[in-house]
Amino acid sequence: MSDLSEHDETLATRAGRNPPQNHGVVNPPVYRASTILFPTIESFESRVADRLQPGKVVYGLCGTPTTFALEEAMTTLEGGYGCVVLPSGMAAVAMAILAFVRSGDHLLMVDAAYEPTRMFCDDMLTGLGVETTYYDPLIGEGIEALIRPNTRVVYLESPGSLTFEVQDVPAIARAAHAGGLKVLMDNTWATPLYFKPFEHGVDVCIHAGTKYISGHSDIMSGLITMTEPCYQPVRRTVFGFGQCAGPDDTYTVLRGLRTLPTRLKQQSLQALEVARWLKDRPEVGRVLHPALPDCPGHDLWRRDYLGASSLFGFTLRNVDRVAVARFLDGMRLFGIGASWGGFESLLIPAYPGQLRTATTWPDDEFLVRIHVGLEHTDDLIADLEQGFKRIDNLGPE
Ligand SMILES: Cc1ncc(COP(=O)(O)O)c(C=O)c1O
Repeated sequence: MSDLSEHDETLATRAGRNPPQNHGVVNPPVYRASTILFPTIESFESRVADRLQPGKVVYGLCGTPTTFALEEAMTTLEGGYGCVVLPSGMAAVAMAILAFVRSGDHLLMVDAAYEPTRMFCDDMLTGLGVETTYYDPLIGEGIEALIRPNTRVVYLESPGSLTFEVQDVPAIARAAHAGGLKVLMDNTWATPLYFKPFEHGVDVCIHAGTKYISGHSDIMSGLITMTEPCYQPVRRTVFGFGQCAGPDDTYTVLRGLRTLPTRLKQQSLQALEVARWLKDRPEVGRVLHPALPDCPGHDLWRRDYLGASSLFGFTLRNVDRVAVARFLDGMRLFGIGASWGGFESLLIPAYPGQLRTATTWPDDEFLVRIHVGLEHTDDLIADLEQGFKRIDNLGPE
């Protein structure tokens, strides 16, 4: 069904399923498999030779029709040649990078990367003899000056984790391709709906399916989509590291993807409403929402993105940790917790200044990351308003 030329909302409901081939059942079945049986030695041997091609049922590790259904749906929505499904977003980050670097190579990593991605570079890649240089998220075509003869990969995460700088993906991709580099991008924030990576020069696109795609805070999942030349290196790496996602998780991520456009549209609207409300509050300094002008790279977001999801940041003026604890600890609806992309609203404190090495982040105001879920915005705003009262009336509780 991947040749449909319809809107994303339609594609999300149809791609990767084929009821007539499945007794009319709407959803693809959950196949549980390690061993696959073949009728003849010839069919066995020819299939094993094809085991790293898309959609070949050979052995459980190489995927089943349940896996291929999710892979097809992702490729239909995001573009690219193929997709692989992994057990977590972090596995997708690691596998995508490891597919393209070897000892003695050099990698360019955005300074606003998800903190465990940095940890992977600093610990794992360093141990493997791969050097990482961090670069300013707003570097644009200036990336060219950082490319060395042994640089193999430029890695983007746009908007940046915690700080939401929008990167100039086409400019970075142009310079990278001129130097023979692969362009890898974490597109988890925008999802395949709000940023089309392959139209902007990305070669390999990484998603934590854990977030909006599955959407219900009950699954760990990773997905990598890529262009044809990158498919074999990624598949071989994923196979070589013995990575595969479980059948129930794979099925559940695909079920989440069916409603992604509707959830995302609603959460996006609600997040913007909350962001605008926050912007007018005297307690708030900056609102780091890519769709608002305060956000570094806002013009690039307007140029390249099709929407904004519901994760953003805001700073609190003149507060210390005690005041922030008052604000966050007393929330009725907003939970305090890692991850995002589910139906529930979340808040966490963030300290990007402690992570940066290529750039500085002014920690003069306290940064809070907010994820807006599917609760009514009036209720969310009322919860935040109570929180501000707790800061404003700071005294014995
Ligand atoms: C931008 C980004 N990429 C990747 C990941 C890793 O995903 P997972 O938690 O599924 O390992 C996360 C998790 O928070 C993330 O925020």
